[in-house]
Amino acid sequence: MKLSNRVQKMEFSPIRKLVPYGEMAKANGVNVYHLNIGQPDIETPSTFFEGMKNFHDCVLKYTSSQGIEELINSFIKYYKQWDIEFEKDEIMITNGGSEAIMFALMAICDSGDEIIIPEPFYTNYNGFSEVAGVNIISFSTKAEDGFHLPKKEDIISMISDKTRAILISNPGNPTGVVYSFEEIKLLSDIAKEKDIYLIADEVYREFVYDNLKYTSALYMKDSLDRIILIDSISKRYSACGARIGLVASKNKHLMKQILKFGQTRLCVPTIEQLAATNLINTPKEYFNGVKKEYEERRNILYEYLSSIPGVICRKPAGAFYVIAKLPVKNAEDFAKWLLTDFSYKNKTVMVAPAEGFYANKELGKDEIRISYCLNKDALIDAMDLLKRALEKYKLMY
Ligand SMILES: Cc1ncc(COP(=O)(O)O)c(C=O)c1O
Repeated sequence: MKLSNRVQKMEFSPIRKLVPYGEMAKANGVNVYHLNIGQPDIETPSTFFEGMKNFHDCVLKYTSSQGIEELINSFIKYYKQWDIEFEKDEIMITNGGSEAIMFALMAICDSGDEIIIPEPFYTNYNGFSEVAGVNIISFSTKAEDGFHLPKKEDIISMISDKTRAILISNPGNPTGVVYSFEEIKLLSDIAKEKDIYLIADEVYREFVYDNLKYTSALYMKDSLDRIILIDSISKRYSACGARIGLVASKNKHLMKQILKFGQTRLCVPTIEQLAATNLINTPKEYFNGVKKEYEERRNILYEYLSSIPGVICRKPAGAFYVIAKLPVKNAEDFAKWLLTDFSYKNKTVMVAPAEGFYANKELGKDEIRISYCLNKDALIDAMDLLKRALEKYKLMY
């Protein structure tokens, strides 16, 4: 029987594609450090689990497709702390940031339309675009520039009459870039000039280091009708499994249209919405400790990685990932080999080959993405394993 061209064209996620090899290694008794996935190990605040107890009905009903009012109100309060003003009809709760991205693309693009993304980019943008029939047109950002944006002309040159939006992740996954006020202003100016949307994926908003100031796309007051915010509690509160995110925009007409997609999937899980309502009330101080922890991990990881002969990387300024260039021809082969042929003291590491984070097939072949969602001791051990593995690999290949 026939399969769609769409599904056949789609690639497996580079973050998860090596999992079967990891499972094999584990079955052989090898302990695998997961540096491949952005699954935080930090405890989910107890406010989430307490919030679950706020469910008292005898029937577990659907909620409204937009999401429960209490949760939307919690988010409105949260955004106020960031000087962002939303009204109730400007937010729709989604199944994670993932569904929010999907809905945003589906609402503004027709099949064959284009979106502009700086690369390397969050690999699932590829998958969402594939499902929506949207073509990604990327422009490169480079490690040597800290993955900051190129000149305005370089971005504009990628825009055609099929372009519907610029999509960014800020802070960036996988680069760790944190865009400056001027960069966000540049993107919003381009969006205005070219009459397109700016989709701002801000799921890592809290994770900005080195005392840098965070600029939300929603600070661009003169472009608010074209800014679509993607957000999620997954990373912010270590609550990936809750599957609670949102799509929001000051463009009420757009939000009304997006609601149609929400209605087809009826609603987001009821109990998780209740729990998230309480979770978002977690005092802001919670982030001080979490941010400090990630910043320390980032420092350890960066120092260790840069000391490995032949490894090149930039210190990320935000989120919890780093892109590292390895002294190997093909990072995916190496990543697979780490799981199939290498172990030291019965331990090895799983990393994400970076090729899948690029649209340009020539780029990222010798790079990996490492996530620092592991505790410091585990990170140091994992880096030691990576160093030993590279030494051994160099002798063999
Ligand atoms: C940049 C970015 N956006 C969105 C998501 C989606 O997260 P979720 O669907 O769990 O909210 C992720 C997850 O890794 C991400 O890194």
